[in-house]
Amino acid sequence: MLSSLRFLSLCILVVAPLAHSQSISPVSPAYIPLVLRSPYLNAWTQGGELTRSWPTFWNQRNLGWAGYIRVDGVTYQWLGNHNPPFNATTVLNTQITPTQTIYTLQAGSMSLNLTFLSPITLSDPVKQSFPFAYVSLDAVALDGQSHNVQVYSDIDAEWTSGQRNATAIWSTNQTSSSVFHQAQLQSPAAFQEITDQAQDATTYFASPSSANLSSTIGAYLDVRQQFGDTGSLPNPTSNTSGIIDSPFVVYAFASDLGNITQTAQSVIWAVGNVRNPAIAYTTGSGTVQNRAPYFVSEYSDIPSAIDAFLSDFNNAKQHSDALDAQILNDTTAISSDYSNLVSLAMRQAIGSTELTIGNGTDGKWNTSDVMLFMKDVGTSGRVNPVETLYASLPLWLYLNATYAGALLSPLLQYQDSPAYTQPFAAQDLGTSYPLAPGNNQAHTQGIEQSGNMLIMSLAHARISGDGSLVARYYPLLKRWADYLVQTIPDPSQQSNADMETQVNMTNLIVKGLVGIQAMSEISKALGNSVDALTYSTNTTVLSVALNMSGISTEGGHMLATYGNQESWTLPYNLFADRLLQTGIMSDAFYASQTQFLGDLLAASSKVSPFGLPVDTTAVSQANAAWTALTAAIVTNSSVRDGLFAPIWTHATANGSAFPLSDIYKLDSSGALVSGRSSPAMGALFAPLILRLLSEPQPPPPTATKKKASIVGPVVGAVLGGKALIAGLVFLVVYLRRRRRLRVAGKTIIVEPESLPSTRSQSPDPNHSTATTAVNPSDSSFGLVVPSMKARIAMQEGLYIKHNATPLASGPSSNASTSNPAGSVDPPSVAESSQVDLHGLRTELQNQTAMIEHLRNAVREMEAEMNEAPPSYSHLGAQ
Ligand SMILES: *[C@@H]1O[C@H](CO)[C@@H](O)[C@H](O)[C@H]1NC(C)=O
Ligand SMILES: *[C@@H]1O[C@H](CO)[C@@H](O)[C@H](O)[C@H]1NC(C)=O
Ligand SMILES: *[C@@H]1O[C@H](CO)[C@@H](O)[C@H](O)[C@H]1NC(C)=O
Ligand SMILES: *[C@@H]1O[C@H](CO)[C@@H](O)[C@H](O)[C@H]1NC(C)=O
Ligand SMILES: *[C@@H]1O[C@H](CO)[C@@H](O)[C@H](O)[C@H]1NC(C)=O
Ligand SMILES: *[C@@H]1O[C@H](CO)[C@@H](O)[C@H](O)[C@H]1NC(C)=O
Ligand SMILES: *[C@@H]1O[C@H](CO)[C@@H](O)[C@H](O)[C@H]1NC(C)=O
Ligand SMILES: *[C@@H]1O[C@H](CO)[C@@H](O)[C@H](O)[C@H]1NC(C)=O
Ligand SMILES: *[C@@H]1O[C@H](CO)[C@@H](O)[C@H](O)[C@H]1NC(C)=O
Ligand SMILES: *[C@@H]1O[C@H](CO)[C@@H](O)[C@H](O)[C@H]1NC(C)=O
Repeated sequence: MLSSLRFLSLCILVVAPLAHSQSISPVSPAYIPLVLRSPYLNAWTQGGELTRSWPTFWNQRNLGWAGYIRVDGVTYQWLGNHNPPFNATTVLNTQITPTQTIYTLQAGSMSLNLTFLSPITLSDPVKQSFPFAYVSLDAVALDGQSHNVQVYSDIDAEWTSGQRNATAIWSTNQTSSSVFHQAQLQSPAAFQEITDQAQDATTYFASPSSANLSSTIGAYLDVRQQFGDTGSLPNPTSNTSGIIDSPFVVYAFASDLGNITQTAQSVIWAVGNVRNPAIAYTTGSGTVQNRAPYFVSEYSDIPSAIDAFLSDFNNAKQHSDALDAQILNDTTAISSDYSNLVSLAMRQAIGSTELTIGNGTDGKWNTSDVMLFMKDVGTSGRVNPVETLYASLPLWLYLNATYAGALLSPLLQYQDSPAYTQPFAAQDLGTSYPLAPGNNQAHTQGIEQSGNMLIMSLAHARISGDGSLVARYYPLLKRWADYLVQTIPDPSQQSNADMETQVNMTNLIVKGLVGIQAMSEISKALGNSVDALTYSTNTTVLSVALNMSGISTEGGHMLATYGNQESWTLPYNLFADRLLQTGIMSDAFYASQTQFLGDLLAASSKVSPFGLPVDTTAVSQANAAWTALTAAIVTNSSVRDGLFAPIWTHATANGSAFPLSDIYKLDSSGALVSGRSSPAMGALFAPLILRLLSEPQPPPPTATKKKASIVGPVVGAVLGGKALIAGLVFLVVYLRRRRRLRVAGKTIIVEPESLPSTRSQSPDPNHSTATTAVNPSDSSFGLVVPSMKARIAMQEGLYIKHNATPLASGPSSNASTSNPAGSVDPPSVAESSQVDLHGLRTELQNQTAMIEHLRNAVREMEAEMNEAPPSYSHLGAQ
């Protein structure tokens, strides 16, 4: 058996005593999402406890939220923990879909369906950004007889602030179609949090007006007891303010449904938590933008937005059912554990974000200035935490890649300014959401975060078809790629996303290399074949050390650190290699790595039911996001399923009575480490996006004869580069053979035939991808929303120089500085001869013949490039 396998067993045995007490796996998660619409509108319930405990915020502090149904004079409790309790309802079934949690309950002779719906409407930014969710109740008599029924629900001001001894003010208002309660702090504090909740939010509880609806506000004991006893509500208190928790004051609705055998239509409530401004974003020039939630561009007041939300219920329900069906259709093709995990993860990932707009120069809302902000919920509270954006990227790419651009945009904009002085990418935009002042601090995650930004930028451009960000920020992206080129040969001061600090962490170097190759692909897409060649050559040169030292000599798996044959790591950054088709590792490597992981899983299942650790350095805990990225790239479906299954086992384990979390202990406790309700769990979508990209590409709609004339020189240059590449490949293969490595070296330039499909697909059945507008100014999002035609142009751009207009949008896109194709100088001999052999030299000191071979290859390349210098400036203006 492999020595590293023995090593794993040792490590786990040390930290994790065998868990003999195998409990029967429960069918539903240990903690269940009810409402997840923003970092501050967030409610969960402990599994099985809906009808007898209080819902909680993601940090597991209670939220006052009660629900009762009175049937023939007997009151049953379906939500909350009133004391003394009303009669018990029985939970018959719990169903969790990506957008909904649906309970089937029995209350006496009535059967109830209770639906907690957090709508996800990425194609409609107005709806998406309105931080409200629905609860609906349907009831039917089990005995077919008519019963006298009243239903009740309330919330309290715990939804408004984490400071429970603060004073809240409240009121009840109505419009022609809705009644709503609202509550906020008497002294709100903008952009401040106390125990994770905002101090500047207004909480709403709303219901459609109707003759049988009544509402009140009052001390919780009085209001709940009167409903329980009589089915009606007391008059509202005359107080309009009070301390949140002494006594708890509740905002209540009751509906008298009369004598019914079933509800004629759903009883609907909406709960909301609104903040405006949502984010204080400091631009690179130092201006603080108080950014508003996007919906204000359509609704200037909350009452009309509430009316629209409530009257949209049937539509929202249908849309959500369709979206759920489509996602679950994709996930069940993988496994039921996987489906369950995706259903659990989607709302929390999207619900960790807020979609915002800024003001135009005219002081009006500018719907082209869209930015998405993510809170590092459950972990650090940072703003747009780059490694967490990276983890969640598969979700955005799968659902709507435009949102990935909206997440990157504030990071890129800030770092492109003189305010940002680091040579590598920042870790975030600030350390305490919702303040986004920018973060110019030095840090040790230069490779990690620069690699993340390059990978995400290319992925966004390819899959959305919108090249505006990569075009506008080309010099910034290049700066990061240059940093990677310089740092990877000696990464002695670097740490990774998991805060590990060893030198030469293989998986971290893979991220850096994919980042450099992403820069090459971005350059190619924008017509800069010289940069394309520079960066892909660097990838190749730097891959030599990776292949020589980062892969085990026995078994062909990735080592945690160069040369440490006893080590291994989950190679989760290879997800980016597959996503972008950068070919850093060969197919043969993926196969041998998969085999290794299969063996590891078999060994580890005997010591922990909760899966594998990230690597041999951090053996006591699992990272669900990195495990999911790894599961997406293995070449064998049983190994893939074997990686997902323990995450679900953990999510359902009694010990994990907390919201779905990223990092947890591998011992039998399964205890939380960090990341409750983390957006990182968007990583679970990784297999779905790879699958989508591998689907066959529809044929190009039109022939592109006009461009054929320019293919020659550029393809010539790329082929010229291949002489060099061929030399390097030979070198790598030669060296690896000598060392009896089993794994083939990397492949180099992505051939046009093997370009990844960039099909973007809306899971919203109402949106056909083929009909969307291409003009940036037509787009509701202010970003290019590509038609199929634009997407194909984007792909052609990967190897054909063409007019970059469909890719370059935004204010500065026409300036020559932002169009890198316009500012390219053909490479001078001196430049090209400075081939960076840094990474090679020490390894190859005695390999002078090989180096000579390499030099010759470089000279060949130079000669060919001088023969056929593509005339970029002319080509652009054809
Ligand atoms: C309701 O609960 C009370 C007290 O627990 C009990 O006496 C009564 O039988 C219950 N009624 C029904 C209809 O379940
Ligand atoms: C993606 O979202 C944007 C903004 O909401 C929308 O305009 C666009 O239609 C969506 N794209 C797809 C493919 O659904
Ligand atoms: C509850 O949902 C189930 C499953 O969708 C359905 O069969 C049943 O009719 C629903 N009951 C009510 C009262 O709407
Ligand atoms: C609320 O409680 C905190 C600590 O629990 C205390 O510091 C603060 O003074 C209290 N505020 C009020 C208004 O009582
Ligand atoms: C709601 O009613 C209160 C007092 O009845 C009033 O002060 C407040 O402005 C109203 N709010 C809205 C949004 O109409
Ligand atoms: C409901 O039915 C009860 C008896 O079954 C009757 O006393 C009552 O008047 C009815 N209520 C309505 C509103 O019809
Ligand atoms: C944006 O414009 C709105 C409406 O004109 C105004 O209320 C708000 O203060 C402005 N915000 C900023 C940051 O300029
Ligand atoms: C589910 O997916 C299959 C192919 O994987 C497709 O044929 C079928 O139409 C899909 N069903 C729905 C409801 O999307
Ligand atoms: C890291 O790897 C490089 C080869 O890329 C090697 O020269 C260097 O010695 C390694 N550093 C350590 C501490 O192993
Ligand atoms: C690697 O990239 C740097 C720019 O970061 C460039 O100067 C150098 O020539 C490249 N090396 C090779 C071998 O192309």
